Amino acid sequence: MCGIIGYIGKRDALPILLEGLRCMEYRGYDSAGVAVISKNAVTCVRAKGRVALLKEKCLTETLEGAVGIGHTRWATHGEPNERNAHPQRDCMGDVFIAHNGIIENHQPLKDHLIKKGHKFLSETDTEVISHLIEEYDKKEKDFPKAVRLALKDFHGAFGIVVLSRKHPGVLVAARFGSPLILGIGKEEYVVASDANAVLPVTNRVIYLNDGDMATLSGSAYEISDFRNGGGTQKRKKTTIEWTSSAAELGGYPHFMLKEIMGQPQSLRDTMRGRLLSHEGTVKFGGLEPFEKRMRALQHITLAAMGTASFTCLIGEYAIEELAGIPAKREIGSEFAFRSSTVNAESALLAVSQSGETADTLNAIREAKRRGALTLGIVNVVGSTMAREVDGGIYNHVGPEIAVASTKATTSQALLQIMLALYLGRLRGMVSRSEGQAIVAEMQRLPKHVEKILKSKERIKVLAKKYKKCEDFFLLGRKYNVSAALEGALKLKECAYAHAEGCSTTELKHGPISLIVPNLPSIVVVPRDALYEKNKSSVEELKARKGPVIAITTEGNKELEKIADAVLYIPKTLEMLTPILAIIPMQLLAYYLAVERGNDVDKPRNLAKSVTVE
Ligand code: AGP
Repeated sequence: MCGIIGYIGKRDALPILLEGLRCMEYRGYDSAGVAVISKNAVTCVRAKGRVALLKEKCLTETLEGAVGIGHTRWATHGEPNERNAHPQRDCMGDVFIAHNGIIENHQPLKDHLIKKGHKFLSETDTEVISHLIEEYDKKEKDFPKAVRLALKDFHGAFGIVVLSRKHPGVLVAARFGSPLILGIGKEEYVVASDANAVLPVTNRVIYLNDGDMATLSGSAYEISDFRNGGGTQKRKKTTIEWTSSAAELGGYPHFMLKEIMGQPQSLRDTMRGRLLSHEGTVKFGGLEPFEKRMRALQHITLAAMGTASFTCLIGEYAIEELAGIPAKREIGSEFAFRSSTVNAESALLAVSQSGETADTLNAIREAKRRGALTLGIVNVVGSTMAREVDGGIYNHVGPEIAVASTKATTSQALLQIMLALYLGRLRGMVSRSEGQAIVAEMQRLPKHVEKILKSKERIKVLAKKYKKCEDFFLLGRKYNVSAALEGALKLKECAYAHAEGCSTTELKHGPISLIVPNLPSIVVVPRDALYEKNKSSVEELKARKGPVIAITTEGNKELEKIADAVLYIPKTLEMLTPILAIIPMQLLAYYLAVERGNDVDKPRNLAKSVTVE
């Protein structure tokens, strides 16, 4: 939530800041701003709305200078308007700050500063940071020290970049709970919430840790821990392997469509080098040191939020089915409230695209406190989660830019089944030949997805037909409850339609009273052990005049006589079915969003990475 960036070097800061903000816009997009030091003044430009509007506004201002900061906002405190946009400033217009996170104790600090004569201009929690730095700067005259002292007074989560007109040769950045990456160029530094914003300048980076404060001048950098007197910290430099072109549209009208269509490849990338066909198992380098502990596991909790948590419903079933370990999905934010049995004989598996979701991170930290082994399925390399879990598995699907997750979703689901197979083989629950058969089916998935994607024009037609419907049901059973919940979330976030996902049988226990002729249901009815029961549910919906779009197995023509439309997915193992069934739902949500004129990649009120609780 919110993207921040700072640059100090020899080049003009403005284009670097604007390009960085454009790359990070998925993190929040209700307002944006930049502040640049030129000569002895700071010029700050802010705009309500998108970075493109800010860019236009900047054309009318003189913003020349090699030191600057920028921000793209997802509002927490104060409505989205220009006054509440960042950078926020102090009384004198000397100190400017871009902040990602929440200062929980901003009110008492603000009251204290108001008593001292400070004048506040916004409703944000952030503004208190600039005023407090101003206060310390009066006494200290050492800008980094003033920042450090101020940071020690805050409770909450923050990533900040701060500059001062009085100290034009220094930029200070710090993090506690919000991600921050320092890019190290040749006599230039860039610091940002996301690696994609750093890449246009350099691919040599340091992932800052909680408590780290980076003091940057044009020719040097120093990292210290602001919590303990500011002693210098050594941090490892890493080279980012991907290029910023991975975050380009590549001819597609939207990132969401590009990412949906890219799933054959992203699934291949997820499996690459990990499937051991002959052994009928899976290899995860990051888990090897924990083999002994995993053999003895008594329980696994799967923790995640949103889409990622729906994929955990697949992991839950698969781990129990293949590895015989009791497994339970837990909404990340609720895990800490449960007096669960998680202990040293348990593992917590966190699943997250961004690796920065605050609620999932809290679950990891709580599980650690209880002595559990912590594992993670994470897409963003170097993210906080990737660094905090004991054993990590990367998705390897590259940057996912659209706010609505698609390629990370199918990869998360597949990795959980791969993990279940790995555990099943490790614990002797799955024979080599059974494992070989599962691996072979996994290898067929990309081709299956390619086939489903060919039906996109049909789905486009369905989107036109149902574009006026305000409510939808999405239904499935067993593994496909996950697909139903995820399909419903896609319709809500992209098409702004009210959609409910649940088990097909659950419908009869109440929700069926809502079925009317303009409330379509999308029902996953594969030709599996539950087929006859699911087919009956379709009949029940039709008996009440509810339109039905059925998603069934190729070759099963029977449903064409009952349902209003039938979409086909290739035959696969039951546990792999939701990975295929979700694809038509993703496409339907996409085309409905387009039909309704919605901002597909940046739906209203959302941010891709939810870094506050
Ligand atoms: C996905 O479409 C959503 N935007 C959202 O539910 C997301 O999956 C959730 O916020 C979790 O994010 P994470 O995977 O980065 O932890």
